[in-house]
Amino acid sequence: MYFIIGKFVCIAFFLVAGSKAAPAKKTIVVNACRKSDPIFLQCIKKEIQSVVPQLSGGYAKLRIPAIDPFELPALDIAKGQGAVSIDLSLQKLKIFGLSSAIIENVDIDPEKLTGYAKFTFTKPINLIGSYTAKGKVQVLPINGKGQCNITLIDPVLELLNLQGESVERKGVKYIIVKNVELKAISMRKVILKLDNLFQGNKELSDNLNVFINENWELLFQELKPAFEEAIVAIIKDIVGKVFQKIPQDDIFPA
Ligand SMILES: *[C@@H]1O[C@H](CO)[C@@H](O)[C@H](O)[C@H]1NC(C)=O
Repeated sequence: MYFIIGKFVCIAFFLVAGSKAAPAKKTIVVNACRKSDPIFLQCIKKEIQSVVPQLSGGYAKLRIPAIDPFELPALDIAKGQGAVSIDLSLQKLKIFGLSSAIIENVDIDPEKLTGYAKFTFTKPINLIGSYTAKGKVQVLPINGKGQCNITLIDPVLELLNLQGESVERKGVKYIIVKNVELKAISMRKVILKLDNLFQGNKELSDNLNVFINENWELLFQELKPAFEEAIVAIIKDIVGKVFQKIPQDDIFPA
């Protein structure tokens, strides 16, 4: 999670998968945390926290694209059961707010290469883009298509079962990510705005939006796995990019 650029020791734990390369020419400078540091975990937490907002516009040197907004070409949400059962497909998404992440808790074992982290956000997470929705809300058939704005208020995310493995390339040890899982453990509220949900009938469309928002928990249960998958893919990609370039002994110096 640290990397050396020129003479600087840098860190870049982080979020993001690769669509758009970042234009900004800058260097993220971070102090390395030594494994022998008695407050190693506190050090890691502080350094990760300082890097997160700096990744907002991406980091060209490691080909990390902007994380705020983060651009996601598509996100498909499977159809569920019950009163609100719709197949929701989101396209050309921009996810706003990820750079407001606060690391509440982090536990990394630099020897076993295991890890855990818990994040909250100071800003709402906004998913803006277009959508198609098919299915039904109660008995009403839905076949909508238009702009969407999905707002997640106070999500709490947990990164679990982070497992790395040490591999050797040309005599130098690098870490590869073997496993990482993400759970949205809580959420205060989700606000959904799906324009043109009932094609051509604005009043019905507005009423349906009210109904869906009153029942956001139902829809969110469906949305959650896709959202978790999208976020974990972003994290895996960024961490992977960092680990690929920065040797293990620079990431976790003795
Ligand atoms: C999306 O919805 C949220 C919550 O209603 C609102 O604060 C935000 O301004 C909206 N964003 C856009 C681009 O419409």
